[in-house]
Amino acid sequence: MSSMPEAPTAPSYVRTPAASFLNSLAVDRPLARYDLAGSIAHVEMLGATGVIAPADAATIVRGLRDVAREVAAGTFPWRDELEDVHTNVEVRLTELLGPVGGKVHTARSRNDQVALDERLYLRATIRDLGEAVATLATALLECADRERELVLPGYTHLQRAQPITAAHWRLAHFWRLERDLDRLLATARRSDVSPLGAGALAGSTLTIDPARTAERLGFARAFDNSLDAVSDRDPFAELLFDLALLGVHLSALGEDLVVFASTEFGFVRRTAALGGGSSLMPQKRNPDVAELARGKAGRQVGDLVALLTTLKGLPLAYDRDLQEDKAPVLDSVATATETLRAMTRLVRELEWDPDRLRAASADPELYATDRAEELVRRGVPFRTAHTEVSRSSSPTEGRTAPDAVDPAAAVARRSVHGGPAPSAVAVQSQDAHARLAAHRASLSSLGRQVERIEELLNEEQR
Ligand code: ARG
Repeated sequence: MSSMPEAPTAPSYVRTPAASFLNSLAVDRPLARYDLAGSIAHVEMLGATGVIAPADAATIVRGLRDVAREVAAGTFPWRDELEDVHTNVEVRLTELLGPVGGKVHTARSRNDQVALDERLYLRATIRDLGEAVATLATALLECADRERELVLPGYTHLQRAQPITAAHWRLAHFWRLERDLDRLLATARRSDVSPLGAGALAGSTLTIDPARTAERLGFARAFDNSLDAVSDRDPFAELLFDLALLGVHLSALGEDLVVFASTEFGFVRRTAALGGGSSLMPQKRNPDVAELARGKAGRQVGDLVALLTTLKGLPLAYDRDLQEDKAPVLDSVATATETLRAMTRLVRELEWDPDRLRAASADPELYATDRAEELVRRGVPFRTAHTEVSRSSSPTEGRTAPDAVDPAAAVARRSVHGGPAPSAVAVQSQDAHARLAAHRASLSSLGRQVERIEELLNEEQR
């Protein structure tokens, strides 16, 4: 039989009638692994600097790894009355080790602790989301490489404008995602600063070594200013902006597909991948997936606004308002994850209707600019050419019979750098592959930082 000491009661700071209002466990439990890794690095440092006895440090680190195993196995006894993840871990540790467990919180506050946990979470999340963005971007790119000759009308104001190709359309969406990925990586890079050691707001009178814990946790460096370190939520604000804009981009991709799948356009087939049917109208096949991608972005913009509004006007340094930073982040991350997965499937399984594309691309109006530019080539001032062509194609002025149009030739002529001509798209695609490869390399090195945390948790103790 085990002779476990009795469960310790809640620390004094959680004893308030408002305990359930203050509780943040629902949103900070996902941070448990990062909280434990941070504590291990912290306690190792306390031992190495002699702030606590090295033997105590070793005991506590061993206890923290035991707790990490409980969390991973799902056997950790989460207690709602213990306010948050930090207190749950500390109380459990003390339960396992006795009073020496109480040394874990030496020269530390939950203020620098939660700021640290969030940055470690951010790093792992950007690695995962970055991979998901790269996967969707790759899908667009690979499909584009097979569709360089497939002509479709390009639109401005949702009116037929000039001919483009399916590849060019795919790559337009690709570049938006490429920038989203670049932004996420930049957010990770700017957030690569450890706040551990900032304490509640003013560091510590004990001889701690923040650079050492920063290094151990794989950060580029430690904080510059303790007041800033405990209150800085720029990493989360940036992440929420990055995801809001990603959501906006995916909503625009969704909208293009909704339009293309409409009966009126019919450019893409209404396959099962696009969505379901109507519970009432038997004939319906709706582009629900694309519509929902369009709709999700609204909440992600809301998540960004929620955090910025919370942060606005807060006095330095830590204020409990900051606890409200987690819910919008978890929501936006979950939304981005699901939307990216759904859109990747949709983009891969998209079926163009070549007959509809051919018919739409034969519309002479798409080549009005070509006719004007042909006149320009013969020396006519562009404004004169514009007027002439616009008169000849105006219904009131009596249309002249349009020349037989050759969509493929018209697209091929648009060979300017970044244009839709197959020759230009080949160059564009090469650039796209190269840019994506560079981002993938950055994602791998971010991945190595993320792995350090797992190693720290699983390391065999000497
Ligand atoms: N749950 C808190 C948060 O997320 C942890 C920090 C609490 N600090 C404090 N001084 N009450 O911000």
